[in-house]
Amino acid sequence: MPSPGPVADDPGRRPTLADLVPSHVRDFDPYVPSLPDDVLIARHGLERLHRLNNNENPLGPSPRARRALEEALTRHSHHYPSGDGHHLRQALGRRHGLDPEQFIIGNGANEVISCITRTFCREGDNIITAERTFAVYQWVATVAGVEARRAPMREHGFDEAGLLARIDPRSKLIFLCNPNNPTGTLWSRPRLEAFLEAVAGRCLVVLDEAYHEFVEPGIAPDGLGLLARHPHLIVLRTFSKAFALAGLRIGYLAASPQLVALIRKACIVYSVNGPAQLAAEASLADAEEFLERSRAHTRAMRQLFTTGLARLGLPYLAGEGNFVMVRLPMDDEQAGRRLLAQGILVRTLSAFGYPGWIRVSLGEAAAMAACLEALAALGPA
Ligand SMILES: Cc1ncc(COP(=O)(O)O)c(C=O)c1O
Repeated sequence: MPSPGPVADDPGRRPTLADLVPSHVRDFDPYVPSLPDDVLIARHGLERLHRLNNNENPLGPSPRARRALEEALTRHSHHYPSGDGHHLRQALGRRHGLDPEQFIIGNGANEVISCITRTFCREGDNIITAERTFAVYQWVATVAGVEARRAPMREHGFDEAGLLARIDPRSKLIFLCNPNNPTGTLWSRPRLEAFLEAVAGRCLVVLDEAYHEFVEPGIAPDGLGLLARHPHLIVLRTFSKAFALAGLRIGYLAASPQLVALIRKACIVYSVNGPAQLAAEASLADAEEFLERSRAHTRAMRQLFTTGLARLGLPYLAGEGNFVMVRLPMDDEQAGRRLLAQGILVRTLSAFGYPGWIRVSLGEAAAMAACLEALAALGPA
């Protein structure tokens, strides 16, 4: 869009769209979501589509969450919800031994990432993250005119030296992802704590634990348990993944009450609907049994899928989380199209910095078997 120059040159001239929109918004390439299942099925003449691109939990919501949701939809759809997730924050406080004032509930963790960035960053500031991690940290920053600095990875994991080297006085946030999407690598607790000490309060550290509940207990550090000792830490969690409520869009952050009071200023009140709040709260009531079932399913599917990949001779990376990365002997975008033609939707990883790789969510057994069959049928490029 050609820009005719500043309106200030000619106060009588009406601004064009180019005048109104900042260049960091105009030049941003937006994320294009996949089409709905019914559209893809019709377009590709499929009998069935296996959606293995979003790391969803195929078990669906827990029994308690289902019951709460059914009741909430009929009884509460005409009421505004609690504007700040009051009861859910109380329940999270009890579960994690924290003050309810330490939580902010958002319309998915993605909304919370946006609130945090809006709170602390102005144009010209920077955020720091890794090259091959969840891209939303970078996107939210870029579209706000904030520089996203990305440190190279070491052995598919975050490299603390590279992250620390990028800190300067305009650095506001460092985003870590544990376990990392898409590589499944983990920070250990000592390593994470040493990193937090090394950052030494020069900026805030946001620890995204979206897949935390998929990790076997005791293996990954619990970011929520580190908050008392690290006042510059913000932890993200979501109900989209192991709790299987992705369609309801609900996630949260936890931090010190001081940080929460600031971030709340940049949040959209009432953005989280009532049924989502009630289902999330109910899902905490039967969490232990349900999460163990989710982990058992994930373990079994990881075993089944990686055994099949080994049989096909396809290299893979199967770390923590409910997904596996697979290296293909061809372009990943081309492979993605061919897999879709066979009813399998996966995440292609060129845009994550892994050309030739795809990320496959660990779904139902039938979906994993169909995916292995489709991979076997890919043949040469
Ligand atoms: C690492 C990571 N963080 C955050 C999110 C966003 O989660 P939500 O569905 O709560 O917005 C995702 C979703 O894919 C993710 O992979």
